[in-house]
Amino acid sequence: MTGPNLSEVPEVELDGTDSRSHLDPAALRHPDSLKWTLYDEGVIPMWVADMDYPVAPVILAALQGRLTRGLGYPQLMGDPLLTRLIQEKAATQGLTDLPADGVALLPGVVPGIFAAVHALTAPGDGVLTMLPVYHPFHLSINDQRRVVQAAALIDSGTRWEIDWEALEGAVTPSTRLMLLCHPHNPTGRVWDAEELDRLRDFALRHNLYVCSDELHADLSYAEAPFQSFAADPRVRGRTVTLTGPCKAFNTAGLGIGAMLSHDPALIKHLKTAVGGLMGHPSALSITMWQAALQEGAPWLAETVAYLCGNRDFLQAFLAERLPWVKSYPVESTYLAWLDLRAHPQAGEIQQVLLEQARVAIHNGPVFAPDPQKADYQGFIRVNFATSRALLAEALERMAGVLGGEVE
Ligand SMILES: Cc1ncc(COP(=O)(O)O)c(C=O)c1O
Repeated sequence: MTGPNLSEVPEVELDGTDSRSHLDPAALRHPDSLKWTLYDEGVIPMWVADMDYPVAPVILAALQGRLTRGLGYPQLMGDPLLTRLIQEKAATQGLTDLPADGVALLPGVVPGIFAAVHALTAPGDGVLTMLPVYHPFHLSINDQRRVVQAAALIDSGTRWEIDWEALEGAVTPSTRLMLLCHPHNPTGRVWDAEELDRLRDFALRHNLYVCSDELHADLSYAEAPFQSFAADPRVRGRTVTLTGPCKAFNTAGLGIGAMLSHDPALIKHLKTAVGGLMGHPSALSITMWQAALQEGAPWLAETVAYLCGNRDFLQAFLAERLPWVKSYPVESTYLAWLDLRAHPQAGEIQQVLLEQARVAIHNGPVFAPDPQKADYQGFIRVNFATSRALLAEALERMAGVLGGEVE
């Protein structure tokens, strides 16, 4: 593990009343919150990918304004303002010259994953994924009677990497589609320029469609700007990119996303296949995303800075207090993927942490195609998008139960 020592990781001070550093668990535990109510009072929830921070004031103001204008049907043919803002944003990530009819709104990003699998493959076809991965990837394949063809990422000793041989080995003549998670949930990797190029070559060589879920792109800690998979014109005609505001702006409860492609026929094909089943995004979600794109950048920059400090604190804590835990600093987003297999109770690590440490995390097997098989048992995904104080409390509790040394 690399990074600063624990004592060298100050909390990022944004201002004296910063709403990220002053969080009250009693206020967070309200009945509308899935994250805070699934487990008993007293448990610190670090599982589902919501941040504990309040919504950006600019978004709240826009929503209040929208309420005063009424709640009739929004622009169902594609909101022109939001479409333009998405085009402009996509261009900064390499998706230049995206046509307006290459942008279609969705009620969320997961419906886009299901739509891609449904429209671009037939029952029995193979769909490629990399393991571990955000669980709806596998649900979208299994539930629609396609076949998961998975290649496990490898732990290189410094980061999680694509196993190119395993990827080649997973492809069969029935493979039609690759589901890419970029940035990758749960390892936090942002695939670099070399890896993206190799993935593009791979997709071209095997004549695959690619659905690139780029929902976490705005939470990148890298200095280099995030680059979309379809930034390269060679793969634009075969790629659907999925994006949305909910991870960066903590608005999952409003539900909205978009699918993007330089080939409008591809978007039309997905819409025709499942558009009627999905429904339209809500009026409030459209207003929210407009506000996020128009005025949300300063709030987002502060949030990324705060999260980056939490990431460094987590890494430093592990290095100092739980040195046997394997973990690499994530390059994006607020989800850390920790390898606790060295612990004697790795086989029931989620229960141990829940019942003894009173910390709720996501269990590793969730991120494999068949959670019953217990692949990735001993791994956990930890959501560190909370105040430094709550993060420190959760880590102290974990260290108290797990201990600094293992046999
Ligand atoms: C990679 C990825 N895609 C999609 C989603 C969910 O998107 P939505 O809530 O817009 O369906 C998540 C949620 O954590 C995610 O991590």
